[in-house]
Amino acid sequence: MPKLAILGGKPLAGKNKKWAKWPISAESDAQLVAKITRSNRWSFDGPVEWEFAEKFTAYQGAKFGACCANGTVGIQMALEALGIGAYDEVIVPGMTWQATAAACVDVNAIPVLVDVEPDTYNLDLDKVEAAITPKTKAIIVVHLYGCVTDLDRLQRICKKNNLFLIEDCAHQHGTFWKGKGVGSFGDVSSWSFQESKVLSSGEGGFNMCKTKELFYKLYSLRNCGRPYEAQPPVFGLKKAAAMETALQSGNYRLTEWQAALLLGGLTRLDQQVKDRDANAIYLNSLLAQIPGIQVMRRRPQVTQQSYFNFTFRIDAKELCVDNTQFCQALDRELGVPELFEPPYEPLNGCGLYKPLTKTRHNLSAAYKKAINPKRFSLPVCEEANKHSGVCAHHQVLMNSKADMEFLADTVKKIIDNIDELRQFKADARKQFKALPV
Ligand SMILES: Cc1ncc(COP(=O)(O)O)c(C=O)c1O
Repeated sequence: MPKLAILGGKPLAGKNKKWAKWPISAESDAQLVAKITRSNRWSFDGPVEWEFAEKFTAYQGAKFGACCANGTVGIQMALEALGIGAYDEVIVPGMTWQATAAACVDVNAIPVLVDVEPDTYNLDLDKVEAAITPKTKAIIVVHLYGCVTDLDRLQRICKKNNLFLIEDCAHQHGTFWKGKGVGSFGDVSSWSFQESKVLSSGEGGFNMCKTKELFYKLYSLRNCGRPYEAQPPVFGLKKAAAMETALQSGNYRLTEWQAALLLGGLTRLDQQVKDRDANAIYLNSLLAQIPGIQVMRRRPQVTQQSYFNFTFRIDAKELCVDNTQFCQALDRELGVPELFEPPYEPLNGCGLYKPLTKTRHNLSAAYKKAINPKRFSLPVCEEANKHSGVCAHHQVLMNSKADMEFLADTVKKIIDNIDELRQFKADARKQFKALPV
């Protein structure tokens, strides 16, 4: 009789086991949404939007900030505000959501994909230094899942090489490095409020920046190029005479309803991050005792860690199974489909990152060659995606301490019955076929 649920054994979690759901809201959020519905202020520099923008910026310890339509255009506007464009090289991690690199090609820059550290999935800074050329203009760092890049060293690298630093903080609302919020270290940072994120309005995005000149640009870029004129003034900034000139841009604004959900979410964010962080530390301490399991590395400078995903690694070679088999076995024991999954596909082979399929990226033969993701070698990203990386959405950390013990027991059950798992042929992963180039 098999032991593992994936092979017909009894699942560890009974049918009535409840796991936290995401996203969540409060009655007060629904009331504010209804109030906005009854008002005649639904968008366009609304009071709720700017109340949220000032509060979220202050929470992360940044100077200026503004809402935008989503995290993808947030990165694009960060690049445009810094004057990055055609043929400029931008260093981007090989493991991230495709938007980080897609935003670069959308401003006609060249994303240079760099491999990550095996135990944090963040940019490998030795490889970053080796990838810098005279054409490099910026580094986009993604603090991925539940780990932060060495921000001190990264800032030194940027300063030494005269590069802009953009922080893609889509996964890091509520993370603090030496007591200071991430997103306040780069020249510009970008955030996503898409449904799965730890601060969410279904869709939405945000930019933070260091100087008022960058703020004026970001304000204009999100608002069809209009010069800054928020009424009443925000961040203490009066209308600047120097900003009378409009920029060329589009409409990347957010609505008042989205801002209402964000304002409500922000009142709960810090406690939720603290609760997840405590659970992650506890779960890691349990997982670290299980043979064949390796936990991710937490840098000592991290004073509060937010989690978009909770991640650990299996010793795939030693165990003779891969992460897809392991994730599917975990899901079946817990009775939650697709809760666990491998980390992002590396961008040199990602089904949703196909820059050569867009006519507007066809600038020249040299440009097409430069943006071809296949030219980059990303062995650590590939190993993590194909063999060892195991990720679960942050909602697993929003359960009780006993649930963390339950999760560790589930991992242990699979390790104890690893011989059985070797016989299981995992279902194929979802594949996205690209258009022919
Ligand atoms: C690391 C990262 N950057 C950027 C984005 C893009 O954000 P959005 O979906 O809001 O456009 C995401 C979204 O998942 C992300 O995970």
